[in-house]
Amino acid sequence: MNTTVQTPQRHFASDNYAGICPEALEAMLTANSGHEVSYGDDSWTQKAADLIRDIFETDCEVFFVFNGTSANSLSLAALCQSYHSILCHEFAHVEASECGAPEFFANGTKVLLLPGANGKVDPKAIESAVNKRTDIHYPKPRALSLTQGTEVGTVYSLAELGTLAEAAKRFGLRIQMDGARFANAVVSLGVKPKEITWQAGVDVLCFGGTKNGVGVGEAVVFFNKEVAREFDYRCKQGGQLASKMRFLSAPWVGMLKDGAWLRHAAHSNAMAQRLEQAIRGLPGVQISYPVETNAVFARLPVPVTEGLHARGWKFYTNVGGWDESRLMCSWDTTPDDVDAFAADMKQLAISGAPVR
Ligand SMILES: Cc1ncc(COP(=O)(O)O)c(C=O)c1O
Repeated sequence: MNTTVQTPQRHFASDNYAGICPEALEAMLTANSGHEVSYGDDSWTQKAADLIRDIFETDCEVFFVFNGTSANSLSLAALCQSYHSILCHEFAHVEASECGAPEFFANGTKVLLLPGANGKVDPKAIESAVNKRTDIHYPKPRALSLTQGTEVGTVYSLAELGTLAEAAKRFGLRIQMDGARFANAVVSLGVKPKEITWQAGVDVLCFGGTKNGVGVGEAVVFFNKEVAREFDYRCKQGGQLASKMRFLSAPWVGMLKDGAWLRHAAHSNAMAQRLEQAIRGLPGVQISYPVETNAVFARLPVPVTEGLHARGWKFYTNVGGWDESRLMCSWDTTPDDVDAFAADMKQLAISGAPVR
């Protein structure tokens, strides 16, 4: 065995594995001086919300919550009554990975799954779901939840969003966007944030901070202010009103004030591109989806996944029950990390050697 081999310092399992980026941390440390008013009536929360309004170039309502599950669940609950249903893609985090929280917080609103290639809702499936039954015995479709970037690392283009929004409007559906990786999508598409949100008919966005470099917290951004009514009560009841709110909001000031959120997303997207280019075409390796954000999904031979794990690399296999590995890049993934991981994969794929 080669004893000079280093244990990997960073992994490809999740963008949640990374720490807090310098800009968010510095703002949090700066916020940690003196006293500030609690429960969100502080100057940091005001500043962060104002920066979000600047970035989206509109007057929206902003709430900071602890995680993506609460952001999604509470925002969907705000759009629906218990007898309504939420339409989303069959891979959607809101259905597959939130332990029924949207249904719980919406008091039983049913989540209906739609098909679509590359992790994106097929607009025709909206019509089929809405028209499947129109009588009183069926939970009335009320919301369309779209994940941007998607769970499999792709993005909805402006044209695709336009078609989906047209269908949603036609059937009286409000649009909620799960933007856990919204920054990655903005960078990937090269658009202004407003173009893929309120200008595209999105009523509420769950704007992801954690995967972008913040330690804890997401922003719920209501472009449709009517549905934000009493959302503060929902947050409180759902355990999402931070007493020392400044520590949730200050990192956003650090991220947004000079564009760190976009720089970090551009970097993690670039690392995913580098990884894809390095591993595409290796024996037995099949890239599953277009690489458009910070994720590479690939089918890998079992000896390769086992060999990589044996060498200390952490990443998920058999993701979501599919025969695939998920390789995520983060704001702090380095080109050297990518190259070392890809070199190990290449060696295993070519030689099948179990140890180096
Ligand atoms: C698409 C998507 N939405 C939302 C979330 C947020 O989930 P959490 O509640 O773990 O912050 C995640 C995290 O993995 C995600 O991938």
